[in-house]
Amino acid sequence: MLTSGGDAPGMNAALRAVVLAAEHYDMEVIAFRHGYEGLLDNEYLSLKAADVLHVLQYSGTIIKSARCPRFKEVAAAQLAAENLDALGLSALVVIGGDGSFRGAEHLSQYWQGQIIGVPGTIDNDLYGTDATIGYATAVAIAMDALDKIRDTADAMDRVFIVEVMGRHAGFIGLSSAMAAGAERMILPELQRDKPLTVAALVKHIKRVEAVRGPGSYVMVLSEHQWPGGAVALSEQLEAEFDMPCRPCLLGHIQRGGAPAPSDRILASQLGVHAIELILQGATRVMAGIKANQMVAVPLVDTWTKKNPLDENLLRIQHEIFNPVKKSASKPSQ
Ligand code: F6P
Repeated sequence: MLTSGGDAPGMNAALRAVVLAAEHYDMEVIAFRHGYEGLLDNEYLSLKAADVLHVLQYSGTIIKSARCPRFKEVAAAQLAAENLDALGLSALVVIGGDGSFRGAEHLSQYWQGQIIGVPGTIDNDLYGTDATIGYATAVAIAMDALDKIRDTADAMDRVFIVEVMGRHAGFIGLSSAMAAGAERMILPELQRDKPLTVAALVKHIKRVEAVRGPGSYVMVLSEHQWPGGAVALSEQLEAEFDMPCRPCLLGHIQRGGAPAPSDRILASQLGVHAIELILQGATRVMAGIKANQMVAVPLVDTWTKKNPLDENLLRIQHEIFNPVKKSASKPSQ
């Protein structure tokens, strides 16, 4: 087993579940430290139940994680295969996101053992599962921050731009904006269709003020969706449109603290599912959950296919909660 890529709250709960389920089914677990780096450098340790019993309340990962660009090379996958065979291992559980799963698929070209992915990323951007481990916690942290920003924004009738993680996917942005009642979202998916201009943004800010009266306006900006991010955008609004505006960058705070209950439970289910998939002979699949059913999704599908943003949440945010148009149309039956 290894944890790879950006850590996500609940990874410890997932690795705990892998170890406990493995012991239950008389299997032994070896954990590579620092993700694929540890697999290449033979940095590993044996994990028993006693090592993992009380780790599910902590974020991060006790076996460490890393990004490992060199794993893309053929020689790296071949070396990893040799190391796995030398240890007599029959299966590898990879807890991580799309980059980690690409690495797992790459390894499968050179190693005959079973490979099972467990979706661990705050971005929630893996196809085939209703949620990824860490997403719920990240949304809760962003929501909490947005609530606090609202207090000060409202006191001074200010515009705030809160930058959240998710450079390729707007799930954290949309959910936290919805949960905290933000007036505007700038998300990767929306930017692709129709990039927002400062002029359009200012028009919306003024429109909201005209309809709702003077007050605060809180915007959720996904990272990398504006040149220079929240700081540059707020400076632009102040300088060009004389609009008092403040930026707030949440960054890696979204990956820390106590994992939300739903992440601990999801991680526990998926960790056990990974071991049961190994027993069933599965390989090159991700352990996922769909409509409360445990599923096995081909690893390649997890990044080649995409879960779209919830259209109904977008509609509610854009058309109902935040006034864009003068007249409202009746909902279709
Ligand atoms: O993929 C998870 C994630 O937290 C993204 O939301 C973010 O863009 C990225 O990792 C940050 O990566 P790093 O921790 O390497 O800076």
